[in-house]
Formats: sequence, structure tokens, C-alpha cells
Amino acid sequence: MPATIAVVGTGYVGLTTGAYLAHLGHRVICADVVADKVERLSRGELPIVESGLDELVTEGLATQRLSFVLGAAGAVADAEFVFLCVPTPQGEDGSADLSYVRQAARDIAGHLTPECIVINKSTVPVGSTRVVEEAIGRDDVFVVSNPEFLREGSAVHDCLHPDRIVIGSDDQAVAMRVAGLFEALRAPLVITDPASAETIKYASNAFLATKVSFVNALANVCEAVGADVNEVVLGMGHDRRIGFEFLKPGPGWGGSCFPKDTRAMVRIAEDAGYDFGLLRGVIAVNDEQYERMVEKVEHMVGGSLDGCTVAAWGLTFKARTDDLRDSPAIEVIRRLQGRGAVVRAYDPTVKATAAGGAAAARLAGIEVGADPYAVCEGADVAVVLTEWDELRWLDFAKVAELMAEPRIVDTRNLLDAPLLRRLGFAYRGVGRMG
Ligand code: UDX
Repeated sequence: MPATIAVVGTGYVGLTTGAYLAHLGHRVICADVVADKVERLSRGELPIVESGLDELVTEGLATQRLSFVLGAAGAVADAEFVFLCVPTPQGEDGSADLSYVRQAARDIAGHLTPECIVINKSTVPVGSTRVVEEAIGRDDVFVVSNPEFLREGSAVHDCLHPDRIVIGSDDQAVAMRVAGLFEALRAPLVITDPASAETIKYASNAFLATKVSFVNALANVCEAVGADVNEVVLGMGHDRRIGFEFLKPGPGWGGSCFPKDTRAMVRIAEDAGYDFGLLRGVIAVNDEQYERMVEKVEHMVGGSLDGCTVAAWGLTFKARTDDLRDSPAIEVIRRLQGRGAVVRAYDPTVKATAAGGAAAARLAGIEVGADPYAVCEGADVAVVLTEWDELRWLDFAKVAELMAEPRIVDTRNLLDAPLLRRLGFAYRGVGRMG
């Protein structure tokens, strides 16, 4: 049954959620507090790079099942369901900052229809369903938890083909009403209590970050003992208890979720009287990994980075996104600069002139080049920092000619090492000698 839905917040989660729910046949009004963003979205202009999302937004606007308004109050008036998709940034003490969630709940409180279900998709600490209930302060509406597991870059695909849908509510009938919204997806359903639903989100991200830190630590061992981490992961992954996913070594994990959610999980545990030492270790391994990448580059140029020119390929925290938040690439670049290197960076989704606002601030002091070759001119070393597919197909003979020295550090094990060596490059990947 098509429902009338409001979505509060049009970030990655809110915009994708609104667009795919409209695609499933529901009538969706998305609200945001930024007027310019709302106007642009109403014209079908997307503020983010996300595969397949523009098609869904265009479709939603054309069928009039999707619309955008300024301010949450205007979106919720007729809604049977209201999704809260506002940010929960990291507070100063590592815990999640709930002020946007509280504010959104207060903004909508007086405008909700009786029997309406408010669904919290923001990543919130255990007990936040209660916080939202209190902020709304009404006993004729319901609040449930419905964590989102989409990945940037494949957000639309992840929403339309979820591994599971988690609904946290103490009221089975309310949970089933929410489940009805997703019926067409035919995904496994986990209906549980709100505290467990909230914990599932943090635990999932913490576990995935643990896998990546594990493989990064393993890569260091492989380098030390002369093993090849790719081979080791292949041998491990066939064990179905382990699998192949999230075991690619790299410069460390980043993005808008893992860093804040792992720290929040440590904090949640601490507040509850448990020292989550394992997860603290996972975070420590990640911080060390940035430094290890810098040391690799330093070693490649013969010991000192002072005065060296470094071509950095990649700025985003992973490929297929334009998101620079907590990007390991930028973290490594900052450290290279700190040791005296001059860094020129290229990224397919980042153009120096186009970057404004927060993106410009994140790039301050980093020279961004127009193409992957231009940044190599006269460079002492090139460093792969983000696993962009197009980097694999560069004309490396041309790259070698442009560079002062043909040297590559590949922090993503992306490139064809034997080919590069044949072309005369000195090459170092991660977790393998070759
Ligand atoms: C993550 C979760 O996957 C998603 O379920 C949740 O909803 C939000 O957080 P996202 O931040 O989009 O999604 O990125 P993800 O693809 O999980 O990658 C996170 C980081 O880990 C990136 O920096 C990525 O490069 C790194 N990573 C991932 C690796 O270094 N190796 C891997 O094998 C996988």
C-alpha cells in the first residue's frame, strides 16, 4: 500500500531514502533547512555524486511522487511516516552529538498527525529512541529505530537490495506498519527492541572497521615476513566464516561513518562501564596506518621528503564518491606536507575551482590538478591514495616520462606491479614485496 512519507534531512541517507521510497510507489516529501539545496533538488540538481540517484530523483519529480520543501514542519503535516535522517556528528568527547536529532524532533512535534510513526534513521546512541520520544512529547505518535546500512557510492543499490532491514520497536504492530513500507524489497527483516536496533548499527560499522584494521595490520606482518597479503586473504576468504569482503588493505579507513561511529561505540561502552579495548586497538591501528603510508613514500624517495614533489592520485575517502570527509588520502597528504613535501593532487571528482564550502576548507593548501598526468610533471614520486578505476588504465610510459623519477607508492594495491616494473618504475604496494 503506498504511504505518505516525510523525510527530514537530505544528506546521503535522507536523499537516497526519499528517492527510493518514491521509486517503490510511496508519496514522499523531503525537507531540508538549506533553501538553496531545496531549490536545486526541486529542479533535479543533486548536491552529491551517487550512482543511480539522479535517475531516481528525476523519476520521482516526474511522477510527482517526490518533492522537496524548506523546513520539516511543512513536510510532515499529512505524513503517516516521518523519517529522521539528520546528521549525528562526533561531539568533543567522542560521543554522538544529538542536537540535530533533538531539534528536528521538536520542529515536527506540533505538526504530526495522530498515529504517525517517526522513524529514526540517523545513527544514534542506545537510548535515543527514548530521547526522540521525549523531544516530541506526545503519546499519540510512535517512535521506532530503523538504522541505515547504505554505503556511499552504492547507496541506491544498497537501499534497493538490502542484506537486511532492522526495525527497533517495543510495539509489534507499529514495527509491522514500518515493515510494510519495504515489502517490495523482499529483504530479511529483523524486528527487535529499540536498544538492540541502535546497537546493531554501531556494532556493524565497528565490526567492518575491525576487519579493515585487521587486514591492514596483517599487511604489515606480511611485509615483514615476505608474504603477500593478497594471497593470504584469498586463502582466508574461501572459509565462509571469514569471507572476502572488507579485507582489502589500504591507507586506513575513513569517511563520514567509520571514524565517528567507532569512537562513539568506544564511548558508549565506556559510559556503560566497559572498556572496549579491542575497538580502541582497531582505531589505533588505523591511525598508525596513515603514518605507515607516509613512511613508505619517505623510504621510496630515499629517506627525506623535504623539498620532494609528490603527485597524489586520489583525494576522496574511497572511489565512486566525491566525499572528502575524514579521507585517509587527505590525512596522508597533510602528513607528507608536514615533512616538507610539495604535493599536487588529482581526483576525478574534485576540481579545485568547483570546490566550495566545507570541501574547499578540507582542501586548503593542497594544489589540485586538472588531470592525472599534469600532477606528475617533475614529481619525485606518485602515490595512489584512492582506488579510482581510471588510474589503472593510465599511460604509464607517459607518466614515467613526465616524472623526475619513475617511482610509485600504491597504497591501494590497485596497479599492475609487473607492468610498472617492466616500464622501469620503482613500485611499492601494501602487504607484499611485489
Ligand atoms: C560504511 C558502511 O559500509 C555502511 O554500511 C554504513 O551505512 C556507513 O558506513 P561508507 O562510509 O560509505 O559505508 O564506506 P565503506 O565502503 O564501508 O568504506 C569505509 C572505509 O573503509 C573507506 O575508507 C574504504 O576505503 C575503507 N575500506 C573498505 C578498506 O580500506 N578496505 C576494505 O576492504 C573496505
